[in-house]
Amino acid sequence: MSLPENLPAGHVRVENLSIHLGSGRDAFEAVHSLGFSIEPGEFVCVLGPSGCGKSTLLGALAGHLRPSGGSLEVDGQPVSGPSPQRGMVFQHHTLLPWRRVRDNVAFGLKMRGVPRAERHARAEEMLQLVGLEGFAQRWPSQLSGGMQQRVEIARVLINQPRLLLMDEPFGALDAQTRMMMQALLLDIWTRLRTSVLFITHDIDEALFLADRILVMSPRPGRILEEIRLDFPRPRPRHADLLTSAGFARLKRHCLELLRHEDGRQLPRLTPLGLPINEQTRPRFAI
Ligand SMILES: Nc1ncnc2c1ncn2[C@@H]1O[C@H](COP(=O)(O)OP(=O)(O)O)[C@@H](O)[C@H]1O
Ligand SMILES: [Mg+2]
Repeated sequence: MSLPENLPAGHVRVENLSIHLGSGRDAFEAVHSLGFSIEPGEFVCVLGPSGCGKSTLLGALAGHLRPSGGSLEVDGQPVSGPSPQRGMVFQHHTLLPWRRVRDNVAFGLKMRGVPRAERHARAEEMLQLVGLEGFAQRWPSQLSGGMQQRVEIARVLINQPRLLLMDEPFGALDAQTRMMMQALLLDIWTRLRTSVLFITHDIDEALFLADRILVMSPRPGRILEEIRLDFPRPRPRHADLLTSAGFARLKRHCLELLRHEDGRQLPRLTPLGLPINEQTRPRFAI
C-alpha cells in the first residue's frame, strides 16, 4: 500500500493563554495563563477533570474560539481561524449520514476541487491506514461506533494536518474498543508522525498514549504539572504496560495530583449516605 509521506508536523506554542466564556454577569475565566509547547511530531495529552477547560483550550487551538489574552502559534503563525491544517476529532463523529464512507473521507478534497479519481484513490489509502479497506461503499450508519471514529480520523488525516486535535475521541466507546483504538491511533501516528494534542480525563489513556502529559487543575484550568513519559515506543501491549510497576507509580502520581487539586473536600457521610451537617449529625458514635 502506498502510504502518505510523513505529514509536515506542526510546532505549537501557547503562551500566557487566558480564555473567558459567557457574558455580562455570567462571564468567567475558563482557562488561566496556560503556557506550553508541542514539538513537531510529538504526542501530547492534556489530562484534567471534567469542566476544567480542556475543550475550551482545544477550541482555541482549532480557531473556533478567540482567546482573551496571550498567544497561540502553529509554526510561527498566529491561529486566527479554523484550518484543515489543524484537524479536529470529537467524541462524536461528524460524518454526513447521506454520504457513503468513501465520500465522507474524501469530503475535504472535494471542497478543494481535487478531481474525482484522485479523491477516491486517496480516500482508499486513508481507509487502509485506519484498517477499513473494503468499507468504502458503506453508509456511516452501517458501522460500529469504533469504525465510525476510524472513518472520522481518516476524514481528518486526508487533509494532511500539521496538528491533530483530539477531544476525548474514544470517550463514547466501550473499554475493549477503546483500547483497540488507542493502539490503532499510535500505529497511525508512528507512520505519519504528525503532532497530536489529545484530550482525555482518563489517566490510563493518557499514560498509554503520550510522550508528555499536561495535567490541568479544575476551573479556571491551569497547568499543574508536565509529566514526561519514557515508556518504550512502540508501546508494549495494554496487558503488559498497564500492569507494570512503572505505570502504576505514574498512575498513582496522577491520581494524587487530580485528587489533591480537586479543591472540594468530599462531604463526610452518615451511615445512610447523607452528608453530615447539624440536622443529620448523628447523636451516636459512628
Ligand atoms: N459557551 C459557553 N458558555 C458558557 N460556559 C461554557 C461554555 N462552554 C463551556 N462552558 C463552561 O466552561 C467550563 C469549561 O468547559 P470545557 O472546556 O468544556 O471543559 P472540559 O472540556 O474540561 O470538560 C465548564 O464549566 C463549562 O460548563
Ligand atoms: Mg470537554
